Amino acid sequence: RKIAVFASGSGSNFESIAEAVQGNKLQAEIGLLVCDNPKAYVIQRAKQKQIPVFVFSPKDYESKEAFETIILRKLAEYRVDFIVLAGYMRLIGSTLLSAYTKRIVNIHPSLLPSFPGKDAIGQAFHAGVKVTGVTVHFVDAGMDTGPIIAQKAVDVLNGDTRETLQSRIQEVEHLLYPAVLQELLQKEFTEGFLECLSER
Ligand code: GRF
Repeated sequence: RKIAVFASGSGSNFESIAEAVQGNKLQAEIGLLVCDNPKAYVIQRAKQKQIPVFVFSPKDYESKEAFETIILRKLAEYRVDFIVLAGYMRLIGSTLLSAYTKRIVNIHPSLLPSFPGKDAIGQAFHAGVKVTGVTVHFVDAGMDTGPIIAQKAVDVLNGDTRETLQSRIQEVEHLLYPAVLQELLQKEFTEGFLECLSER
């Protein structure tokens, strides 16, 4: 299985996925990093690991369809069959969604459907919830709305700051995402799971 990771920022999840691949805990190959931010640190992480990078600036294109068409060509060139969003700060458009139906997953730092969208950790912190967490889900056209694959709860502790909460959530992400991907990329599991979804 060849995956592409899409990221816009630091890329700590990218790193944990790449390490799981290196350690053979995730039997897949990262064929490509797709990045929409030329200044993102994730680009250095990929280069260090000699993973090919496609970086672009959305403002250089007249529409989402235009840059997703280019991304699609790159994905075909690298023979990518599964897309993993890891801090990609952009909604996926119909060009990619229709080419990779049920083959795009995302990780979100809350227990969806609570706190979708930007700054989920800040939203949870300010709402004063006692439990938040991490969700891995299939991607559809909405903002963090696709079918849920896995969730893990994280307690908000007395004395937590936004930062301490964030670092505990990220620790959970770094374990959960590679493990869920490994399960998902096993063909049997994916097919069974997708059948369940289509029966819903
Ligand atoms: C993660 O918290 C992820 O859940 C969210 O964006 C953040 C990306 O962090 N979608 P990083 O770039 O992987 O460090």
